[in-house]
Amino acid sequence: MSIKNICCIGAGYVGGPTMSVIALKCPDIKVTVVDLNEKRIAAWNDEDVSNLPIYEPGLAEVVQEARGRNLFFSTEVDKAIDEAELIFISVNTPTKTYGVGKGMAADLKYIELCARQIARVATTDKIVVEKSTLPVRTAEALQNILHNTGKGVRFDILSNPEFLAEGTAVQDLLNADRVLIGGENTLGGQKATEALANIYSNWIPEERILRTSVWSSELSKLTANAFLAQRVSSINAMSELCEVTGADVQEVARAIGTDSRIGPKFLKASVGFGGSCFQKDILNLVYIAKSYGLNEVADYWEQVIIMNDHQKRRFAEKIVKTLFNTVSGKKITLLGWAFKKDTNDTRESAAIYVADYLLSEQAEIVIYDPKVSQEQILADLDYLNTRSEAENRALVTVVNNPMEACDNAHAIAIMTEWDEFVNYDWKQIYNQMQKPAFIFDGRAIFVPSEMENIGFEMYTIGLAY
Ligand code: NAD
Ligand code: UGA
Repeated sequence: MSIKNICCIGAGYVGGPTMSVIALKCPDIKVTVVDLNEKRIAAWNDEDVSNLPIYEPGLAEVVQEARGRNLFFSTEVDKAIDEAELIFISVNTPTKTYGVGKGMAADLKYIELCARQIARVATTDKIVVEKSTLPVRTAEALQNILHNTGKGVRFDILSNPEFLAEGTAVQDLLNADRVLIGGENTLGGQKATEALANIYSNWIPEERILRTSVWSSELSKLTANAFLAQRVSSINAMSELCEVTGADVQEVARAIGTDSRIGPKFLKASVGFGGSCFQKDILNLVYIAKSYGLNEVADYWEQVIIMNDHQKRRFAEKIVKTLFNTVSGKKITLLGWAFKKDTNDTRESAAIYVADYLLSEQAEIVIYDPKVSQEQILADLDYLNTRSEAENRALVTVVNNPMEACDNAHAIAIMTEWDEFVNYDWKQIYNQMQKPAFIFDGRAIFVPSEMENIGFEMYTIGLAY
């Protein structure tokens, strides 16, 4: 079966870049990305590609080339569903904030709404692809909805989780380590799997296209994120031990990372992992394990989150303790708000929780991030509901200029590892700051001795203080 029309429901951090790359690599396929959010779609259609709703290196160029040729962004969801032979569901699956499983389980209401909409609109056979990250066995629920329309339309459901990381999304999509397709072991399931595999084979080598059962594919996505986050929590646990023993976590990471069985990646100690998925997906995994009565499995993975929460909190505590046990009325500059460099995404960013802690200690916070807006930063803080919106605005200032951000500060905390931070005129910044001038390097971007030579009092994550 050859696919000529693709629809993707959800024009977010996954749907947007993924479909842009598919459109780029498959000029004969019409790819329509739809979303209910009109503002987001308008931004995807903005003539000036520097205004796309998502900042990702290389994305603007891809969109520029494919948009209007075979890549379209639209709010006409029904029309795109009707036209497509293959539909990706790429909507958000956040942690539930209500009812059974609150704070743990994935909220599948957006997924179910998509399935019901597809069931209502479809008049021709469709391949429905789970692109969102979903609890294992979600396809069963989709099947129940889609196979009972009574309209004689055939639906084949595939799982095709996305492994891109933000900040490197385009490169990850162009050079994927692997593409995973889970399908039913029936003739129809195999045909659907091959139809999707044919799309990817336009640029992904055949040996990197893995085929599994639907359940293995769904669970592999949660497992991959759990393993990645576990590595970060593992090295972060060691960072605390390094700080009290005089070992250097970066040296430890290099020493263990050169063991080919361990490998060097994902061993960077930090102020804590953020992002929309690690925490959400592990909580979901813990919830699934518990729901099967597998309490030891659940406890094992929950520890990854407990360690991460601890890492964020202890960084904030370190700032207060070092600043002579009070930050009340002191100006503290946070450099970086995004959860990692090269993205404008702030979901679950460690900066939010560190800022919240310091605000509760009545610090005056000044924030600079090269890609995050004031509106987003204040919305992130308001969302926590720790204090009133008015109080957040009274204590928080967001500026567009890093020098201004650091002017007269008692301390600077590095929250995101943006490349530009290293290249500032740190001598001048030192001169403009209150003394002693503290830097809390939550990303280990500086060589501490170089900064100490300027005069800074340095705290680097994972290094004895
Ligand atoms: P997102 O919030 O950026 O985008 C989801 C979009 O879906 C939103 O724009 C929303 O308006 C839209 N939407 C929701 N319900 C809709 C409906 N019924 N009809 C039309 N549009 C609808 O989310 P995201 O970061 O792109 O993540 C999407 C999924 O992909 C999640 O399951 C996530 O776990 C997974 N994932 C994310 C990443 C990542 O890096 N962000 C990577 C891999 C997997
Ligand atoms: C992660 C995975 O890497 C992707 O494969 C996956 O598709 C995605 O989640 C998802 O499912 O959403 P992402 O969250 O975009 O991607 O970014 P990562 O590079 O994984 O970083 C996550 C967090 O861990 C960041 O806050 C980062 O700073 C932190 N991190 C990462 C560290 O603190 N140390 C490291 O060594 C690596």
